[in-house]
Amino acid sequence: MIEFDFSPADAFIDSHVGSGLFLRAHAAHRALLEGTGAGSEWLGWRRILQDPNDALLEEITSVSREIRERADVLICIGIGGSYLGAKAIISALSPYFSSEPDGEEGVHAAPRVIFAGHHLSGSYLQELLDSLEGKSVFANVISKSGSTLEPAIAFRIIRKWMEDRFDDCSRRIIVTTDPDGGSLRELAQTNDYRTFDIPADIGGRFSALTPAGLFPVAVAGFDIRSLFYGSVAMMTELLSPEDNPAVAYAMSRYALHESGYTAEILSVFEPKLGGLGSWWQQLFAESEGKDLKGLFPTTCTYSGDLHSLGQYLQSGRRNLIETFLMIDSDRPSIEVPDENGSLDGLDFVAGKSIKSIAHAAFLGTTRAHLSGGVPVHIITMDGLTEENLGRLIYFFEHAVSVGGYLLGINPFDQPGVDAYKSEMLRVLGAQGDS
Ligand code: PA5
Repeated sequence: MIEFDFSPADAFIDSHVGSGLFLRAHAAHRALLEGTGAGSEWLGWRRILQDPNDALLEEITSVSREIRERADVLICIGIGGSYLGAKAIISALSPYFSSEPDGEEGVHAAPRVIFAGHHLSGSYLQELLDSLEGKSVFANVISKSGSTLEPAIAFRIIRKWMEDRFDDCSRRIIVTTDPDGGSLRELAQTNDYRTFDIPADIGGRFSALTPAGLFPVAVAGFDIRSLFYGSVAMMTELLSPEDNPAVAYAMSRYALHESGYTAEILSVFEPKLGGLGSWWQQLFAESEGKDLKGLFPTTCTYSGDLHSLGQYLQSGRRNLIETFLMIDSDRPSIEVPDENGSLDGLDFVAGKSIKSIAHAAFLGTTRAHLSGGVPVHIITMDGLTEENLGRLIYFFEHAVSVGGYLLGINPFDQPGVDAYKSEMLRVLGAQGDS
């Protein structure tokens, strides 16, 4: 279950914005459902939920099972939309610290999923490979185009390292790419690597529920069926434009944008939601940041960031919106010990759970930020589960699409990213561009 409350932001919306917004938002929602808006050739992320492919979910689970039995580590190589979804889901669902044994001889503990190819740090790659010496390593290279420089370079280096160490290297590499073309597909065919498809009509940042996201999540040991069907459930619940939280969120963001706000912060109190913040940030930045429009999306992790960015939020330039992503589960939480007469001055929280103290910090922060002139939205999940994450992913995808149509832009392309890629390749003297 997820609850949404966008009402605290209402008081910050200019009165001139409201008129006609309902009708325009409903039209944007209809354009998304009927496939009549800009970029409608990229709506495969809805298509796969409308007609779930259970055989594919089973195939992903079965390949992941083999890897879980044989691997110490799966290196996922990808950048942007080709890794952020998997990373967000795995971080959110994984314990902070694992007590699993390292694996006795002949018995593998669950593999660690490690990400690479998402930057150009040579020392990261070198240190990663050094740390994997003697381990059973598998790799999943994920690139829709197959030609993105960062993952392509990382893959070449990791592939060579694996070929030098494993006789069965071709069984250890799994390629996730476009079904029809690209150099990665060709490389997979030549070397007999196993492959998964990212459907042609799904762009990177909308690919979390394709094998790009599902396969690493399955290898990490999570239930991809609940994740996928969580998204299906949310899509079904968001069919009507009435009482539709995704449409309401899109409307509130758009109305605030038109009232002069320029940035939105996704704030979390649970550090393991940081990956989800990065996924959200990419989804909204690449979808909305066009034609000199859009809210600049960024993230805060509290309460740590209250001791740094909190100052700006409270008293800096008044152009910020804040969306809190909260978890309200009934899991027991560690308590502050009661030490009668202790000198640390903490008797007022003695016996309280950290959860209740964090809740007080949340209430205090929302009140302070609202009174400081920051419009606030609140999204609350009743637990960090596969199903809730699936729901949340679809919710944000639907909202960013409706919001993009309200702004009058195509939410499904990313000309700015493509521009950087071709300029970089030109500097490197490559033939052609991205
Ligand atoms: O959302 C997008 O389309 C991008 O962020 C891509 O995912 C990113 O550029 C990586 O592209 P590719 O999967 O083709 O390597």
